[in-house]
Amino acid sequence: MTGVVPVIAIDGPTASGKGTVAQRVAEALGWHYLDSGALYRLAALAARRAGVALDDEPALARLAVNLPIEFSGGRIFLAGDEVTDAIRAEAVGEAASRIAVLGALRAALLDRQRDFRQAPGLVADGRDMASVVFPDASLKVFLTASAEARAERRYKQLIEKGFSANLDGLLRDLRARDARDAGRTHAPLVAAEGAVVLDSTPLTVLQTVQAVLDRWSATGLATRAARQES
Ligand code: DC
Repeated sequence: MTGVVPVIAIDGPTASGKGTVAQRVAEALGWHYLDSGALYRLAALAARRAGVALDDEPALARLAVNLPIEFSGGRIFLAGDEVTDAIRAEAVGEAASRIAVLGALRAALLDRQRDFRQAPGLVADGRDMASVVFPDASLKVFLTASAEARAERRYKQLIEKGFSANLDGLLRDLRARDARDAGRTHAPLVAAEGAVVLDSTPLTVLQTVQAVLDRWSATGLATRAARQES
């Protein structure tokens, strides 16, 4: 591990809970956290604001390379404007999923994602963390859950936030998003080679976090890192 900052990659479908799990794993280890989906959402929002069409690949790639973004204490800024909540809107997620099929846009976001790899370690969540962005990750987790469980979790989240929601509609949208993310040519959503597949359908968030931490301990790298530090 000397010299190389360790990465735990957590990939999975939309609403699998990977964001929450990855964030808590990062907190438990005292590591940095990358929400790569936020970068796609930021690019989508910036495109909308700049009037760039969602299929204009060269313009989107140019926009992504120069995206003026800042992550600060759990808040996200685009050109100085706070967009923490704005990028979570369903319409922005939908637009993000559309532009995420474009190879030039994905390439433009690569270095921006790799910049997050800083000592003592990084927990990165997304779709292609283990396969493309950090293929040398120390631990690769593919976190999944049944479509019904994911739709139900999203439904509860929306209701708790005071939004109205329709479970059948959510399930339909989620299946469409899954199909697009899994069927695209560039970095399709699949478990990477060597990834541990973790089905969180019957697990609570705490149990899922613990399962990832257990897998990390089992790599033996955690104890080696601790020994190097002492
Ligand atoms: O995880 P999320 O819902 O915030 O991601 C929004 C969209 O961005 C999702 O539909 C697919 C895309 N995405 C991607 O293609 N690759 C990633 N590493 C992260 C997100």
